[in-house]
Amino acid sequence: MANSNTLLPPVEHKRAGSVDIVLGVQWGDEGKGRVIDLLAKDYAVVARFGGGDNAGHSIEVGDRKLALRIVPSGALVPSAKLHVGAGTVISLRTLLDELDALGKIGVDISRISVSDRAQIVFPFHAAVDQAMERARGGSAIGTTGRGIGPAYVDRVGRIGITVGDLRNPAALTEKIRQSMQAKASLLAGAPDAPREEDIITDTLAAAKRLLPHVVDGVAYINEALERGDNILAEGAQGTLLDVTYGSYPYVTSSSTIAGGACIGLGIGPGAVRSVTGVVKAYCTRVGGGPFPSELPNAEANALREAGREFGVVTGRPRRCGWFDAVTARYAARLNGLDRLIVTKLDVLSGLDRVGLVTGYRHADGTPAGVESMGEPGLQTEIEYHPGWSENVREVRQVKNLPSAARAYLDRLANVTGVPVALVSVGPERTAFAA
Ligand code: IMP
Repeated sequence: MANSNTLLPPVEHKRAGSVDIVLGVQWGDEGKGRVIDLLAKDYAVVARFGGGDNAGHSIEVGDRKLALRIVPSGALVPSAKLHVGAGTVISLRTLLDELDALGKIGVDISRISVSDRAQIVFPFHAAVDQAMERARGGSAIGTTGRGIGPAYVDRVGRIGITVGDLRNPAALTEKIRQSMQAKASLLAGAPDAPREEDIITDTLAAAKRLLPHVVDGVAYINEALERGDNILAEGAQGTLLDVTYGSYPYVTSSSTIAGGACIGLGIGPGAVRSVTGVVKAYCTRVGGGPFPSELPNAEANALREAGREFGVVTGRPRRCGWFDAVTARYAARLNGLDRLIVTKLDVLSGLDRVGLVTGYRHADGTPAGVESMGEPGLQTEIEYHPGWSENVREVRQVKNLPSAARAYLDRLANVTGVPVALVSVGPERTAFAA
């Protein structure tokens, strides 16, 4: 690529392999897991770049449903190596359980690696998370209670414990003691506060099992790129839960946007070839916080039941609403989206009309932007599209979808300014229309 600066010689990117990022456009739960499962066969490595076991990717294979929280969603594609990047926070218990579960169904777990710079989430982080939520009372964030926020706080506060620390039991033990002492006042009031000695014993035992999977993440990813391997970077949660650009403070504690992939994997931006946004044909959110296109419960129920909108991790019913083009356009900019993959189109079958939020207005009727999302009295501009009654689950080509469904998809592309590349039309592993 030529450099437009007249003083410097043109830049030639030396990379051999490339990174394609796939991430969520809304508040998570867009169906990224199934998309990544579908795309993984074309990549040497599928790498998670952020989040922890607050994520829950589910993939249905026949009558079996595999729910993964930490291991990347390419687990069922044997040719792909799986990497858990430095930007993640890892509960050792959850990761070990997943390795066991995958091993039991015949998955080769030796292809799973974990960056030594990833942070460990301990049970005391979960206890602090829950204590802080209780203290927030009516303005609780509605976290998953897994300790994700407190673990990222420790990283930034420079008292975090990394996966690489598992290599040195004596130093690890001391760091656990110090970290728990620093949280003593918060843990004192927690009814389920874990005991220091139990944590140390469990962590040292977990270290023995995990160390064969621990790698220098920067070398692992960059040597793969230098060899010419292509990498699929898997986002967790969604753009609107990003710690900086999401619906703050009702967000998760990591960078969920495309920029987070560079930090979370240790790559330069020049390695990124494309950014694909996964977006549900309607909108959902779990936990507290603003949700301008949210439907009242009676109307939301139809979407919730048809879309099985209950959390993979917590089982909580998800809040449901219409597709929100205001936030989708915002996500397109933040991530530099090249294309969209629309999921769960089948859930809209049978509705008389399908709503789409195209704009916001302040209470006084003047136009409002995404930054006003949480404002009292915010109104939405909704356009309604004719529904379709046909079941679309067997359709494999977009041109064979009902004309009303095609018109709705065309409008999504038009109103977001991003082309739709693929559409998921059912929960089965291969239920996609191209
Ligand atoms: P935390 O990530 O557990 O701290 O939760 C912060 C917010 O992010 C809460 O509103 C959670 O419901 C939400 N959240 C975290 N992970 C996910 C996810 O994978 N899907 C949807 N929402 C999530």
